[in-house]
Amino acid sequence: MSSRRPCALRLGPLARASVIAIILGKRQMRRALAVPASILVLAGTAAPTSAQSWVVAPASDNAEIISQLFWFTLVLATIVFLLVEGLLIYSSLRFRRRAPLPLREPPQIHGNTRLEVMWATVPALILIGLFGVTVTRMGELSQLPVNDPSTLKISVTGRQFQWTFGYGDTGVTSTETLHLPVGRPLLFEVTSMDVIHSFWVPDMYGKIDANPGRINRITFQAKHEGTFRGVCAELCGAGHGTMLFRVEAVPQGDFDQWIEQQRTGAAAPGAAAGGEAAQQAAPIIAQKGCGGCHVIPGIPGASGTVGPNLSGVASRTRIAAGAVPNNGPDDLKRWISNPPAVKPGTIMPNTGLTDAEASTVVAFLETLK
Ligand code: CUA
Repeated sequence: MSSRRPCALRLGPLARASVIAIILGKRQMRRALAVPASILVLAGTAAPTSAQSWVVAPASDNAEIISQLFWFTLVLATIVFLLVEGLLIYSSLRFRRRAPLPLREPPQIHGNTRLEVMWATVPALILIGLFGVTVTRMGELSQLPVNDPSTLKISVTGRQFQWTFGYGDTGVTSTETLHLPVGRPLLFEVTSMDVIHSFWVPDMYGKIDANPGRINRITFQAKHEGTFRGVCAELCGAGHGTMLFRVEAVPQGDFDQWIEQQRTGAAAPGAAAGGEAAQQAAPIIAQKGCGGCHVIPGIPGASGTVGPNLSGVASRTRIAAGAVPNNGPDDLKRWISNPPAVKPGTIMPNTGLTDAEASTVVAFLETLK
């Protein structure tokens, strides 16, 4: 942008089109604008697993409300911005000092009652309107479906540094992945076992604090199938940045099937333990006590629920509550050999596996696809 030209504000065609789009509310144009808008608003928190962020493609009914509020505020603020900046630029150019200097003073308007009232009232009315719309929509967001018999209650428990999810009265829990049926009212009961965390699935809802000794409730309905990213949004210790989870929204039938598999202890599809590899790894796993924290298909007695269920661990793209990429045996081996070195603050201890033992265990884990 050249500052030497009299008309300093030379918007590019895209920027101009974007501004027009906000005002006119054209859907296509809004989508075009949403990319820079998302970057501004989310500052890197947009879900990388979903194609578009909640700004343009909210994945739940309540994310839709939040998205509408966002657009409403953005359009309103843009109109005010254009009006104020437009008048400023117009005045700067129209009334700029010209040579030779005219020495007459412009008309003085200090104390002009009409102007004073106007520029106090108009912003106040805008803010009151914005407040009204926001409070109304927030009221809709906080309507909990407590009396709806089809509601699924999901308990959400944060702790340093992972999330545990419980599904209604089924007794089924999961870590790392939150499984959701599409199109069903969901009531989340969010709490913490240690410090304050914050449960956040940007595509589905805003943040809600997970406080120890207290339950905070939120609700939403997943609108369509998909995989989304969830995070902890409250600084909670060394592992805060890696306190992640995945959200899998699936049709009700698939969800029921998954619950049934978990209840009956049946391995997930493809998660059947490999015979020989399991036999070799079983004594090591028993000696190190892995089954105290993990459900491990093919290992008798491995039924702990403190850590993630290891069904299908080999086919996960990330492990350690999303902290570590899982691109093959080397990643798994690096992780189980010394977890605290890979994910600071993790409660998974270094069990002192030798290199050979780690290889044997990983060879077995790689069969859990
Ligand atoms: Cu838990 Cu940040």
